[in-house]
Amino acid sequence: MSSELRDTIAAIAVPGKGILAADESLNTIGKRLASINVENTEQNRRDYREMLFTSPDIHQYISGVILFEETLSQASSSGNTLAEVLNQQGILPGIKVDKGLVDLANTSAEKITQGLDGLKDRLLDYKKLGARFAKWRAVFNISATTPSLRAIEANAHTLARYAAICQDVGIVPIVEPELLMDGKHDLKRCQIATENVLQEVFHQLNLQGILLEGIILKPSMVIQGSECQTQASVDEVANATVSTLLRTVPAAVPTINFLSGGQSAELATAHLSAMNRNHPNLPWQLSFSYGRALQAPSLTIWQGDIRNVEAAKQALHKRAKLNGAATQGQYEASME
Ligand code: 13P
Repeated sequence: MSSELRDTIAAIAVPGKGILAADESLNTIGKRLASINVENTEQNRRDYREMLFTSPDIHQYISGVILFEETLSQASSSGNTLAEVLNQQGILPGIKVDKGLVDLANTSAEKITQGLDGLKDRLLDYKKLGARFAKWRAVFNISATTPSLRAIEANAHTLARYAAICQDVGIVPIVEPELLMDGKHDLKRCQIATENVLQEVFHQLNLQGILLEGIILKPSMVIQGSECQTQASVDEVANATVSTLLRTVPAAVPTINFLSGGQSAELATAHLSAMNRNHPNLPWQLSFSYGRALQAPSLTIWQGDIRNVEAAKQALHKRAKLNGAATQGQYEASME
């Protein structure tokens, strides 16, 4: 493995630490800011993200942050770039490199992720700006007829091509296949669909010659749909997720960092902790790469008001610390 990939994995896959996903596209961050009546301007996006990145002692629990392109070179209030603000704390900056979703032809509105054209040149530019890892998100929805074999194969192939281009330039790829929580499906249906997707993702990663020791897998958990009538317990979600991963993810993968996917902050932490508590001897590290489940409490407290900045920073610190405990299986609801 190239020493660059090895060093980046070693700096990210640290016991007790995980990744903060702060790479919302302009459209998505606009929705988050609208929820607190804050205008979606470059300055407000900068202020919000700078607030998160300067939460006290956040480096104790966060080893990497995924940024949106704008943020990577954006100047902080101190004049340094936000990427430098992270680097100074020993936190690695990463970059979302996909260009979002479009309908996949010949499917019933299933999606394919765009962004391979020109990717190598973009990665080389991002690397000059300090990015050490990248992220690409493939999305699958679960229904009676989806994800279709066509969507699984096309998205897995695209993820593998992206990962190959990243490793070629010494950037660690986060490989993110997300099965959405939207829908009425139960835990079992999600488990079967997730198994099918992950099987094909690793098949395609092998076809493209990906060095598995040099990737980060960012999957969704195996969980019932948000409109499902039967609620699975924390242990049921944790155990179904781990058995799915054991069936599909080779032991050479160093770390699996889950997305939160619309779970509440507390449940996302509880699920991760139960996996680590119930299964202490897994071949890979199980950690987090949460967006909403880390940021939501801070966003709500902030409200775009400078007087709330310290409390909002503390809220992120708290979630990061609790998720750090969850990576060791040591989170308890009483710690909330
Ligand atoms: P959520 O944790 O909010 O799902 O976001 C993680 C992410 O990076 C989605 O691409």
